[in-house]
Amino acid sequence: MDSSAADTQTAGNLAEPDRVRTLLAEARAAGVASLDAQLLLGALTGRDRAHLIAFDEHEVAAPTAALYRANLRRRAAGEPLGYITGVREFWSLPLSIAPGVLVPRPETELLVERCLALFDAAPRRIADLGTGSLAIAAALARERPAWTVIATDRSDRALEIAALNRQRLRLSSIQLRQGSWCEALGEETFDAILSNPPYVAPEDPALAALGFEPQEALVAADEGFADLFAIAAAARRHLREGGMLLLEHGATQAGRLAAELVRLGYARVVCHRDPAGRDRVTEAQR
Ligand SMILES: C[S@@+](CC[C@H](N)C(=O)[O-])C[C@H]1O[C@@H](n2cnc3c(N)ncnc32)[C@H](O)[C@@H]1O
Repeated sequence: MDSSAADTQTAGNLAEPDRVRTLLAEARAAGVASLDAQLLLGALTGRDRAHLIAFDEHEVAAPTAALYRANLRRRAAGEPLGYITGVREFWSLPLSIAPGVLVPRPETELLVERCLALFDAAPRRIADLGTGSLAIAAALARERPAWTVIATDRSDRALEIAALNRQRLRLSSIQLRQGSWCEALGEETFDAILSNPPYVAPEDPALAALGFEPQEALVAADEGFADLFAIAAAARRHLREGGMLLLEHGATQAGRLAAELVRLGYARVVCHRDPAGRDRVTEAQR
């Protein structure tokens, strides 16, 4: 061994090993939230957050620490956690997620809650339009095994990820269809049609922080109303008499959406708020 190699070897032996607590502390310096850091490290070590916190003196192998630091940099650059770990929890279901599909948001669980509140467990026919990762359809199928759930999307990539989640979560009864909104429904009618469509206005400054996600999953013309209105107009023909339309929308869109639903002939138009008190889901009856 030459002298420079010996020096390196000595320095290596003396260097403090990476420990859970030092790695988590690096997140703070990088401007990454501690919860995100715990989830990133947990995904690489197979440990849950409670374990990392309780045993924060544990050593982490150098290759794992290097990967964690690379992932911290991705998160610090604004990449969604779900794209880095490949998983996002929705309705307590671990959904596989990848670039090209929207990362499901916790507020979308309100759409699931409302649908479950409106219908009992008897067999029903339900459509989830613009299913993305399958989040809404998967939650409904898991809660109501007797329901027929049809999940649609226009995007090839979304349907690939939806099919993967259907297989991994063993929800083979969900039917996947490709097509633009109600075109994927043929001549069929449903007890309920749900959708979390794109509803962000093209000029919304909030889009700047959403650059990693597919814009066609987020942005709609006409101040964000184009897809909401298109679904509302087309869904009437696919709802049985008394069937329900449930739409997620932006916090400031409830009034104009309700007016359009009434104009189209829907009854019992009601808006529900998310846990943060924002108008979020509007339901209407055919
Ligand atoms: C806001 S994302 C919702 C994804 C998922 N339902 C969720 O809640 O996480 C909207 C979804 O609608 C799909 N989409 C956009 N335009 C569509 C259209 N014309 N017909 C069908 N799906 C469409 C997008 O590909 C995307 O998956």
